[in-house]
This record gives sequence, structure tokens and C-alpha cells, in this order.
Amino acid sequence: MATPASDLLSRINSISGCFDDDYCDKQRYAVKTKSRKLNALLERGKKNRIISKKLYCDFLAYRWSPRVFSEKPVTHDELDSLFEAARWASSSYNEQEWRYIYAVKNSKEFSVFLNFLTKSNRQWAKNAYVIVVLVGKKYFSHDGSHNKSFQLDCGISLGYLMAESALRGIAVHAMAGFDKGKISEYLKLSDEYEPLCCLAIGHYSSSLKAEEITQRKPLDEIRFNGLNEWTKAQAGNRRDSRAQA
Ligand SMILES: Cc1cc2nc3c(=O)[nH]c(=O)nc-3n(C[C@H](O)[C@H](O)[C@H](O)COP(=O)(O)O)c2cc1C
Repeated sequence: MATPASDLLSRINSISGCFDDDYCDKQRYAVKTKSRKLNALLERGKKNRIISKKLYCDFLAYRWSPRVFSEKPVTHDELDSLFEAARWASSSYNEQEWRYIYAVKNSKEFSVFLNFLTKSNRQWAKNAYVIVVLVGKKYFSHDGSHNKSFQLDCGISLGYLMAESALRGIAVHAMAGFDKGKISEYLKLSDEYEPLCCLAIGHYSSSLKAEEITQRKPLDEIRFNGLNEWTKAQAGNRRDSRAQA
């Protein structure tokens, strides 16, 4: 029977014609060597998450944001692979306005970066191997005007980073609980840049207890075929909230 990782491997093999051999070998290697771990993670994620449509990128549904990390270091190579994925996001005017600034455990800066976080985030994020700050550039390079999409673009980039992390079995936990002022002051950010998010990155821990695996809204609650479906859903929501009041 095909396991999730072997399934993934065969899918990568099936698209290998699209890429040069060296690239494909690296991809196959990554999946093969991680397959046992990947399977364990997929199985854990799968317990609670039901995919309602067939997905080629089903690994996305089996990632989750842990608050427990293993002590195993995340190598610079692994970290750079995540940033490489983040690099390929699309953006308005191809501005690529995301900047990732990080501190690695045992470095002098790690405690400084930890201190950017709210107390409750600090409590668990201190066990991560890397703390990252995602900073967005607010203005277009070509004419200096305000880029209305800068947060969205940075979000897409973060999504790519998370997708790569999911495939590699590396844990990424995003955090909005941080102090913008502290970050701006330490990094000497000009008005051009805004801190958008922090990330705790590490390897998933095998000593995970019963960590909460979150659920997702059903498809019917997030996609609507035109005004008719949208209006019906809105009317339903209003009825529900009146009934609850
Ligand atoms: C932009 C963003 C900000 C978040 N902020 C925090 C946070 O400050 N603290 C925290 O514990 N989790 C935070 N999370 C994690 C979410 O709670 C988590 O992603 C969500 O519950 C879905 O769970 P999953 O990622 O495990 O699937 C954040 C996630 C995102 C994307």
C-alpha cells in the first residue's frame, strides 16, 4: 500500500521531466531520507484532519504549528531552503518586499529576538531553534508610492516558506504576538519597513504530547459561487447570530 511519503515520492518522480536531473535528485533525496519522519508526521496530522477534495499538495493539510520542539539544530542549509521557497512568491509589481531577519539558538541575538515576543509566546518559543522576524517594505521601488498589497505579498511568501517546511518536516509556528516597537528599534527600521510577523522554527519533537491539532472550516464556509451563494450564506450567518443572541 502506498504510504503518504512514497506517494509523494512517486508524484515528484512523475513530474521530474519538468526539472533538471540534479534538481530532481535533490528532491528525491530529501523525500527519501525524511520519509519515515514525514510519515509519522503525516499520520499524526491525518488523525484529526479530513481533506474534503483530492489534493496533490495534501502535505499542506498535515502540517501544524507546534509549541514543542526537538533540540535538534535546524541547519543553515535547511533554513536557507525555507527562505528560498519564500523567495519564489508572486508579488504586486514583483516588488518582493519580504525580508526575513533571524537569530539562531545559542547566538548572542537569540535572547534579543525572543524578547520581541509577548510573554505567552516566549514561554514556548524559547525552545525553538530559530526566531525569525518577517518585515515588509511598504513602498514601491519603482515610484515610491504606497504598496497596498505589501502585507498580502508577504503573506504569500510566508505561505511558500510554510509549504517547504511542511514537505521537509520542519516546524514553523507564526506569531502575531510581538512588540513592533522593540523590533523597529533594535533593527533600526525606517518608516519604509513594518514588522509583520515572527516565526518560531525548529524540528518537530517526538516527545509531543497530545498537542492540539487544529481544524479547518468546511469548504462551503469559505468559497461562494457568485453573489447568489454569497448572499445566501450571509443571510444564514445573520439568522445564526440572531438565534444565538
Ligand atoms: C499571522 C499568524 C499569527 C499567529 N500568531 C500566533 C501567536 O501570536 N501565538 C500563537 O501561539 N500562535 C499564533 N499563530 C498560530 C495560529 O494560531 C495557528 O496557525 C492556527 O491556530 C492554525 O493552526 P495550525 O497552524 O497548527 O494548523 C499565528 C498564525 C499566523 C498565520
